[in-house]
Amino acid sequence: MSLDRLHIVMAASEAVPYAKTGGLGDVVTALAKELSALGHRVTLLLPGYRGQTTQCVRREVMRFSIVMMETKAEVTVEEELIPVTEASHPLRVFLVRYDPYFDRPGIYQEDHHDYPDNLDRFTLFCRAVLHVLRMLAEVQGEVVDVLHLHDWQAALCSVYLRALPGEYKDLQSVKTLLTVHNLGYQGIFSAVEFGKTGLPPSLFCPSALEYYGSINCLKGGIICADAVSTVSPTYAKEIITPEYGCGLEGVLSGRLDGILGITNGIDTKVWDPAQDSYLPARYTVENLAGKQVCKMALQEEFGLLKREVPVLGVVGRLTFQKGFDLLLEIIAELMSLDLQIVFLGSGDYELEQQFRAVQAEYAENIGLYIGFDERLAHRVEAGADMLLMPSRYEPCGLSQLYGLRYGTVPIVRRTGGLADTVVPFRPSTVQSKSATGFWFTDASPDALLSTIMLALCVHKEQKTWNAIIEAGMNKDLSWRRSARQYEGIYWAIAEK
Ligand code: ADP
Ligand code: GLC
Repeated sequence: MSLDRLHIVMAASEAVPYAKTGGLGDVVTALAKELSALGHRVTLLLPGYRGQTTQCVRREVMRFSIVMMETKAEVTVEEELIPVTEASHPLRVFLVRYDPYFDRPGIYQEDHHDYPDNLDRFTLFCRAVLHVLRMLAEVQGEVVDVLHLHDWQAALCSVYLRALPGEYKDLQSVKTLLTVHNLGYQGIFSAVEFGKTGLPPSLFCPSALEYYGSINCLKGGIICADAVSTVSPTYAKEIITPEYGCGLEGVLSGRLDGILGITNGIDTKVWDPAQDSYLPARYTVENLAGKQVCKMALQEEFGLLKREVPVLGVVGRLTFQKGFDLLLEIIAELMSLDLQIVFLGSGDYELEQQFRAVQAEYAENIGLYIGFDERLAHRVEAGADMLLMPSRYEPCGLSQLYGLRYGTVPIVRRTGGLADTVVPFRPSTVQSKSATGFWFTDASPDALLSTIMLALCVHKEQKTWNAIIEAGMNKDLSWRRSARQYEGIYWAIAEK
């Protein structure tokens, strides 16, 4: 370990521009770049999925085999070096390729069904990550200080390291940080699959990977990692309670060092209304004229009349977590008001169908795109007046941060990172010009409706509304402060 610089390896199942289904993909790349800009050596490892467009020259750098039950998987590792402004080193990306597992149309699922061999796929990925670390040390003399693991798909790396100290003797100095981005996804598999992990059967016990008779990858990671963090201070507190702990509250509170909550930042170069090439017009907090152009273009793109009405934007995965069903329950009430809604999302089949039905019923004022479209997400963030996030729980949330940055006022439920990043409209916050959005506490349709109605009233008072927009657009949402907090954890565990 050098005195001022660490070698950090990040392992994740998503990272933009290679793979993204939600916020994880944005966070991993942006954090890795920021850490590089802070002077650290950063290597990012992710599975080599189908259709990953090459960012720069790609070359094969490693080839090895991993024995998985009866199969011997021949893995290749391809490298890309992404230049990072302000950094002396490029960000090194390693794509772990094993085509039978990763060369598929989806990342985790296809046609709304998880791949049945997800345990095999991410077990292989985790074992390959450790193999790469070993080869870096043996062949290139590169010592890795910290292995930063994201979510259940990478969590088993820490289990292998700590539970098989003999097999990974050479890697015992590597310290692991596990970041939990969403407790709703734990990597739970049937006990009969345990053999696939290659771990000793004794680890199928309550103090390791066993969880109500099944395998739980995230649980194993939480127990074995040298430190555990999550993506906002409020979520860090929430997840040690039964209401938000998704059954892991006991395991999480069992960590004597606690769970640190570090709020996500955003990539302020990618998400910048002044430079965003996906938008029909660009704008700044000083001159919002372009936002009006974006709004009209958005209305047109979603087949709505170009009228001067409030446009409510929604961007997100259609899951129970996001609380969009609350929105469905008040749609008739909302449609009795003069407003439009544009909706971009995909996920649960049932919810998709329900959204299609309400759109068909109120086609004049509801625009809908079911699917995943990165560019359109930028245009909704820019063109809408308000952004709805009625989440039942939200570890951090990035969409509301993009809303703040694009002058699109967030209306959120007061939970997790939403509570940490939105300053609610209140007499005191209006007076201090610090209000950046609106929030409600109960996860109920009524609470959502009242808050939207409050926002609509305030929207009519242009001076107050502009002050809210301004406060949001002027917020520092960059990664710098949070990256420094991660740096703090890395040093603390590296020096242990
Ligand atoms: P989560 O990670 O739980 O999905 P976040 O708010 O942290 O929630 O991040 C969501 C990210 O995914 C944002 O970048 C958002 O723009 C993007 N996103 C979600 N759904 C879609 C979609 N249908 N099309 C394009 N981008 C989407
Ligand atoms: C998860 C969470 C979201 C968070 C994202 C990135 O998917 O649901 O709240 O912003 O991860 O950390």
